[in-house]
This record gives sequence, structure tokens and C-alpha cells, in this order.
Amino acid sequence: MDKLVITGGVPLSGEVTISGAKNAALPILASTLLYRGTSVFSNIPKMGDIATIKKLLIWLGASIEERSDQTAVEFKKINRQDAPYEMVKTMRASILVLGPLLARCGEARVSLPGGCAIGARPVNLTLSALERMGAEVKIVQGYIQAKVKKLKGAKIVFDTPTVTGTENVMMAATLAEGTTLLENAACEPEITDLARCLSLAGASIQGAGTETMTIQGVRELHGVDYSVMPDRIEAGTFMIAGAITGGDIFIRKGKSRDLKAVTYKLQEAGVEIEEEKEGLCVKAKKGIQSVDVKTAPFPGFPTDLQAQMAALMTLARGFSIVTETIFENRFNHVAELVRMGADIRINGNQEVIRGVSRLSGAQVMASDLRGSASLVLAGLAAEGETQVSRIYHLDRGYEKMEEKFSRLGAKMMRTRGAL
Ligand code: EPZ
Repeated sequence: MDKLVITGGVPLSGEVTISGAKNAALPILASTLLYRGTSVFSNIPKMGDIATIKKLLIWLGASIEERSDQTAVEFKKINRQDAPYEMVKTMRASILVLGPLLARCGEARVSLPGGCAIGARPVNLTLSALERMGAEVKIVQGYIQAKVKKLKGAKIVFDTPTVTGTENVMMAATLAEGTTLLENAACEPEITDLARCLSLAGASIQGAGTETMTIQGVRELHGVDYSVMPDRIEAGTFMIAGAITGGDIFIRKGKSRDLKAVTYKLQEAGVEIEEEKEGLCVKAKKGIQSVDVKTAPFPGFPTDLQAQMAALMTLARGFSIVTETIFENRFNHVAELVRMGADIRINGNQEVIRGVSRLSGAQVMASDLRGSASLVLAGLAAEGETQVSRIYHLDRGYEKMEEKFSRLGAKMMRTRGAL
């Protein structure tokens, strides 16, 4: 298995360009099940999870053509309506084909996504919403079996805002008969990006990015030309990398409007962040002050940057309390940070972090996507060498990470492991 070998202590400098957003590209690629004709997408990132959903779309009948920096997708026919366990178990977000398959074909058999390292990850809200829209939904031998003659618009109120739940229902509703009203919808920018793409294809959607969305069903949708938004979680990861190394970097395509809570917290911690037309300037010459962080649905502090922020707080002056409110087990990186010299105590859904003056490099092991990013950031700041193993977790959600960091001056290389 590959490892990342990092020699810490180098303040990052220079410019990095952010790739397309994984969590926008996934639902946008799934939405091609709804379209008649070819769609051409740009800014689709090249990473594990994107490869997985492309494999699933081809399994369902898509033809996918990779052009230089574009991806063309067409379903001449949808040959299958099932997403097998072998595919879904590697990426839970495969459930994003459920809504489109039901809307387009009236049936779907999708493996129930299991939990993952960060939590149980139930999908009950999606399933009950589709039932409200007239689908018969059963769980048979670990598979979601759903069928319906024609989905009907309905009023749906989510108990809690769910990102992929909002995306699944929005996609299903675009071809339903009548109007769907979705309350307590998630507001993440990736949802707005998907809604923008669906509207270009002919969908009628109001309120994307707010808690209340209205979707009027239409008869059919056509292919689109669409460019996926930049990845705000990658941008946030690089902002924190600039901060933790005391660097001075420019993050091209970084947009503070998608990262208001993160920008605010980093500025509170003493990081200088300036928004320019093409991106964000991040400077952190004066050391870092501890701040408290509490994750929340957008526009709150994103749970996908909690682990990275915790890494920064291990070297901040004072105490910080990091509270995770979205997932039940998103502290897998803590034990590894402690092995690097961090002073962190877990207390329920909170990490109490006492800043220390230095971290020391160590051999550490990644166990989930964003937790592995946190270990990389700690390695960039630690004295000596850090080896991060099991970086297949990282490769699921970051494109060319070691290349991008090396271009910013980091001493980081990938060693190819035998196994
Ligand atoms: C999306 O996951 C993202 N993944 C996650 O990013 C992100 O952490 C998460 O949203 C929260 O922002 C993609 O977009 C592919 P949720 P999702 O449904 O949709 C509970 C990454 O690192 N819930 O918004 O699966 C759930 O348990 C990944 O890129 C229910 O109870 O998350 C959680 O506590 C990790 N029932 C909360 O809602 C449901 O039916 C939010 O989950 C659905 C969710």
C-alpha cells in the first residue's frame, strides 16, 4: 500500500489551484441518468470516488468518453436498474443513483450503503421521502428495492438536513408528476451546483441552497454542458495547511463565500485571509491562537474540515474545544495526532486540545478521508519525518495531493507499497 513520506517544518509558499468538487461531481454525474442525450462536463476531479461512480454509471448503461479535460456521458439506454453491493460498499454515495433510477425507470435495486469509519450513516430519510412520492420501498437481503409506476410530487419535511438525501429527492422530483416541496433541506453549495446543472437540463427548481425547495416535475430533461464548482473542502484544507506551516500561499479558485465559517474561524485564530478575484491569499506569520470550533450543517463550520482544524489547534496557543455534531465517530485521527505529540482528550463528541509548542514526525495510519488529511497537515508542521500509511483513504477525495503540496515547497513524496 502506498504511503506519503513528509519532512515537516517548511512554511508553504506559492500558488495552488483547487480541483473540481468531489461532492458536487458525484450527484451531477448521477443526474445523467435523468437526461436524454449527451452531457459534457468540465472540472470533474480525477480521484477514487469519481472513478467508482463512473464505473457504476457504465454498469447501468452509460457510455463515458474522457476528452482532454472534459468528460462526456450519455445513456442511450439504461440497461440495468441495480447498483450491486461490490460497488456500493466502496462508496456509499452510490446511493445517489436511487432517485434518478426511480424517476427514469420506475424501479431501482441499490445495495443499502453500510456505515463507514465515521458513523452509521443511515439513509432512512431518503427512503421515507421516496415513499411519500409514491414509491414502494423494501429492504431485501441488504438491498433497497424500490418501484413505482410514476413518482408523484409530495410535501416532504426532513427530520435533519441530509446532503445526499436532499440531492436524491431533488433529482427524483425533477421528473415526478406535480410539485414537490422539500422542507428542512440541506443548503450546502454542492446542492446549489447540482440544482444549477439540473435547471440547465430543463428542470424547474426554486430555493436550492435554502431550507425550502420547490421542484415542479417536467416531462423530460436533456443533456448539458456544465463545469463543476471548485472543491471548497480542498480549498479549506489548503487554507489550514498554509496556517499550520506559517506559510504564505495563494489558493486559486478558492471562494470565501462557500467557506465563511472556516474563514471566520481562521481569522479569529490569527490567520490573515484576503479574497481576490481569482482566489484566496492566506498568510500565517504570527503564530496561531486557539479557537473553539463546532461543526454544523451549512453555512456552519463543515464537518469535513473538523479533523484538519483540530490538527491546526494542536499547535495553537491555549486550549480549544472542537465539537462534532454531525457524525458520531469522526475522531479517528486523534490517537495518531497524539502519537505525534499532540495533547488531545476526547470527551463524548468533543476534543479538548491543549496547544503544544511542537509536534514530532511519526509513522501514522489513515482511517478515513478527512482524518488522513489531518495527519498530512500535522506532518507538514511536525519536526522530522512523518509516514502516513493507508492513503487510499486520501486518494478517494483529493486529486494529486502530493504534487500540489510539493509545488508549494512541501517535502512530500509518495512511496509505492507492494501490497
Ligand atoms: C454528505 O454525506 C457528504 N458526502 C459528506 O462528505 C459530508 O460529511 C456530509 O454530507 C455532511 O456535510 C457527499 O456529499 C458524497 P448527511 P451524507 O446525510 O449526505 C444523518 C466527505 O468527506 N442522517 O448530510 O451521507 C447522518 O447520520 C464526506 O467528502 C440521518 O439520520 O451526510 C448525519 O448525522 C464524508 N438519516 C447527518 O444526518 C438520513 O437518512 C448528516 O448526514 C440521512 C442522514
